[in-house]
Formats: sequence, structure tokens, C-alpha cells
Amino acid sequence: MYLTRLSLTNWRNFARLDIEMPKGPILLVGENAQGKTSFLEAVYFLATFISFQAGSDRELVNFIASREPLAVARLIADFKRDEKFRTENSHRLEIRLIQETNGINGQSRLRKEILVDGLKRKASEAIGLFNAVIFLPQTLRIIEGSPEERRRYLNLTLAQVLPGYAATLSEYNQLITQRNALLKQINDGSADPRQLEFWDEHLAGAGSRLIYARIQAIRELERLAANINLQLTRGSEVLRLDYLPAYDPLPQPEKQFALPVDTPVDRSGLSEEKIRQGFLENLTRLHSEEINRGVTTIGPHRDELRFLGNRVDLGTYGSRGQARTAILSLKLAEVEWMREKTGQWPVLLLDEVLAELDSQRRMDLLNRLADSEQTLLSTTDLDLFSSEFVENSNVWQIEAGRLK
Ligand SMILES: Nc1ncnc2c1ncn2[C@@H]1O[C@H](COP(=O)(O)OP(=O)(O)O)[C@@H](O)[C@H]1O
Ligand SMILES: [Mg+2]
Repeated sequence: MYLTRLSLTNWRNFARLDIEMPKGPILLVGENAQGKTSFLEAVYFLATFISFQAGSDRELVNFIASREPLAVARLIADFKRDEKFRTENSHRLEIRLIQETNGINGQSRLRKEILVDGLKRKASEAIGLFNAVIFLPQTLRIIEGSPEERRRYLNLTLAQVLPGYAATLSEYNQLITQRNALLKQINDGSADPRQLEFWDEHLAGAGSRLIYARIQAIRELERLAANINLQLTRGSEVLRLDYLPAYDPLPQPEKQFALPVDTPVDRSGLSEEKIRQGFLENLTRLHSEEINRGVTTIGPHRDELRFLGNRVDLGTYGSRGQARTAILSLKLAEVEWMREKTGQWPVLLLDEVLAELDSQRRMDLLNRLADSEQTLLSTTDLDLFSSEFVENSNVWQIEAGRLK
């Protein structure tokens, strides 16, 4: 799929931009702080409805515009995707971030509206229509950062491709919040423990759908990533993705020694129903402990994922170079996985990643993405690209929120 037109209004430092988007590679060239990342952020927002970097949507609304009592940041994108019977269909996605400031106490509220082909939709309904994959320098944090970063990565990737995943995730998160509140109330004597049964049932339902989806998706991603990693390392490194669900339907046997060497467990034969039953039983078993602690201790909100290179955990024991190659393999696998699942190329976004790579990895990356329908690459330095690549690309100069 590819964008044909993009319009940004009051989006970060873009007051107003309306541009036709060509197919193929687009090089965004500019000094620091001119708006390259903000532009890519806008495109990725169309795929996930959240920012990959902002803590809150408020940060996205242009500073100057947000001084007014009513400020609207708006993205409008026209794009084409292949649909059934190989017909190419155009769609329009519009996102509005509407910030209203209350005149009395100066507090502001922000609401998000999403329109698909002119009709308002919930994020969980609209997700998946437009797909993008982003490569960022900080993507290495998926391997080296906290488990939360890995869960976030999984959720953003799976939600774009698996129907119902986003809706189940948001249902699950609400259930966790409500169940945790109840656990605290039971703890201080203001609620009846028998009420937990209802929440356990629902949590096990939504949770098992997430666990099941993660088991399958991680396995598919692993197959692709391992293959790519083997090629990038010229056959020397076997990459494995080791899913460690916090409620584990198939726990690993207890190990006598905590060695950094490990082999992932294959859980792909488990049915969703079996996972649901086991999850429910464990929730029930943990009642008294969880009432004491006031939190739900097992379930997908605490899942972990590890990356193993030649059976060694890359997050703790890997070298920088190994982790870089692994993350590149993972990202390239994500692209392939989306193509397998949706039948089309996602739009690719590369934010200054080439500067970080040695020339061999740079070439590997560009070669593998060469057939994509549309790729946006940002850079401060055009010399990182071969003259042939530059000649075949659209080169856009970006300066203070304007394109030249
Ligand atoms: N909400 C906002 N309103 C206006 N400007 C913003 C907003 N958020 C960030 N900026 C500014 O936008 C500029 C562009 O940032 P960025 O897209 O990260 O630039 P680049 O990637 O080109 O280095 C920065 O100067 C930043 O301070
Ligand atoms: Mg940037």
C-alpha cells in the first residue's frame, strides 16, 4: 500500500502541509529539529493511532495553536491498497486531536476522532486499514529495554494485522484496572471476594485470546527473523524469540541452575480454550495472594519476550553488534509478516537509521526493502546514500516544518 496524499494541520511544528505522495522511496533531508521525525510520526500515527514517542497526544498539537481555547491537530491521508480480486482501492483516513480549554480554570481536554472514508470509527475498528513499519535508532530498546517496551512492540505490530487484537487488548486492560480496584476493595473489607469470579471469567476470556495470538504471531515472526538473521550473519547466528507468558499454559520444567543458555518452549499446539481454562484456574488459585497485594499478578500485561542469539539472551549478554543485527532481522521480519498476513507491503519509515549502520548492514537493509511500494527515509546527510539510490528517489528538503 502507499499514500497518495498527506495533509498535516497543527501537527507538531507543521502548521499546514498538504502534499501529494509519490510511490517509491522518498528521502526527507534536513538539519536537526526541522520536522523529519514529526513527519514520520504522523504517518505511523495513521497505522496505530498513537505516537511512537510522545507520552501523550497533547504533545502532538502545535504549541502555538494550542494556546487558543480550541485547537485541532489534523491528519488526512489518502492511500491505496490492494483488495480482493486484485482491485486497488483508495481510502481516506482522517484523525483529529481536538483540544479544548475550559475558560474558567484553564484546564484543557483532548479528544481524538478517527474517520475512515468519512465515517467516525473507534480506533479498534479502524486499525489495520493502513499499515506501516518504523525503523528508529531507539528501536534497539526492544531488545535492551524494559519488558514494557517489548509488550508495546508486540501490541503495535499485532494490532495492525490481527483482526480483533486491538479491541481485545483494550478490553483486557480495562478488566485489569477494574479487577485491581476490586482486589484493593476486598483487601480493605469494602467488597465481597465472591465478586472476583465474574472478573476472572472475563479476564480469562480476553487474556487467553491475547496469549493465543501472541504464541502464534511470535512463532511466525521468529521463523522469518531467524531466517533473515542467518543471512545477515552469513550463517553464524541462530536467532530465537522466546515468549515467556506471565501466565504460562506450558511452564518450562524447573531448572536447577539459572544458566543464560536456554531453549524456547513450543506452545503452538495449545488451543485457546485450553489456555482459557488454565488461566482461569490459576487466577482462582491466586485469590488470597492477589487480594493481599492488590494487583493481578499473572496475564498478558506482564508477559515477557526474550531474544536469544545462539541460545544466549541478547538483552543481557549480547554484544551491541549482535543486538543491532537481531533488531534489524526482527524489523525486516515484521515487514515480511505483514505482507504474508495482509497481502501487501506496509509503508516503510526509516528515521535516520542508516547513519547507525555499518556499510554492509546498510546495503543489506536497502536491498531488502528495495521492492517496497513506498518508503520514507529521513536523513541529515544525503551522502549516506549511493548516488544511484538518490537518483531513483524523490528528495524533499525539510526546513522548519515546511517542505521544499
Ligand atoms: N507540539 C509542537 N508544536 C510545535 N513544535 C514542536 C512540537 N513538538 C515538537 N516541536 C518541535 O518541532 C521540531 C521538529 O522536531 P523533529 O521532527 O524531531 O525534527 P528532526 O527529526 O528533523 O530533527 C523541533 O524543534 C521540536 O522542538
Ligand atoms: Mg529526528
